[in-house]
Amino acid sequence: MFMKKHDLVYLTEDASHDAAIDLINEEAFGPGRFARAAARIREQGPHDLSLSFVCADDGETIASVRMTPVLAGSIKGHLLGPLAVRPSHKNRGIGRELVRIAVEAARRKGSQCVILVGDPPYYQPLGFEKVAYGALTFPGPVDFNRVLVVPMTEDVHAGLKGDIHWRA
Ligand SMILES: CC(C)(COP(=O)(O)OP(=O)(O)OC[C@H]1O[C@@H](n2cnc3c(N)ncnc32)[C@H](O)[C@@H]1OP(=O)(O)O)[C@@H](O)C(=O)NCCC(=O)NCCS
Repeated sequence: MFMKKHDLVYLTEDASHDAAIDLINEEAFGPGRFARAAARIREQGPHDLSLSFVCADDGETIASVRMTPVLAGSIKGHLLGPLAVRPSHKNRGIGRELVRIAVEAARRKGSQCVILVGDPPYYQPLGFEKVAYGALTFPGPVDFNRVLVVPMTEDVHAGLKGDIHWRA
């Protein structure tokens, strides 16, 4: 009898994951995904592969998180997203683990914060706090109740004021 071994591994993203990640994001967010405010920032420049991660199950890529370097007001941080887990693998803690790994990697790299646009009930237990309403200006409409941050140095909240955009 052949039994499929259940074997989840977390890997740093590389170019070989591109096609699978595109499919995962298309499945999770649909065709409207490029219109979202965070996507408008991501199209300004490349994400940071060294801070982006996938989860593979028995060699198949089933979840992804990407991180993009941003200047948010005066703060040099990283924008987290998209985060997506294939429906077949939801509710096993994979999303939470990808967020944890990405945030810790950014912290090790000296990032001042990790910022995202997402659901507060999901991200607040993972260390995210609300950014002051309207403090950051995105390159497109955004729901300010969903702009969240993990501050990783002093005075991050005070510095999160002004435009947010991609940085080199
Ligand atoms: C949201 C998503 C990334 C979560 O990944 P996951 O691996 O299933 O999540 P985890 O297993 O780490 O956590 C599951 C828990 O989060 C909860 N959860 C999932 N989505 C949530 C949301 N939008 N708001 C609040 N809680 C949520 C689940 O109910 C579950 O709760 P429980 O632990 O009390 O049962 C995944 O469902 C997904 O890809 N969704 C579509 C894309 C998306 O919305 N991405 C996030 C953009 S902000």
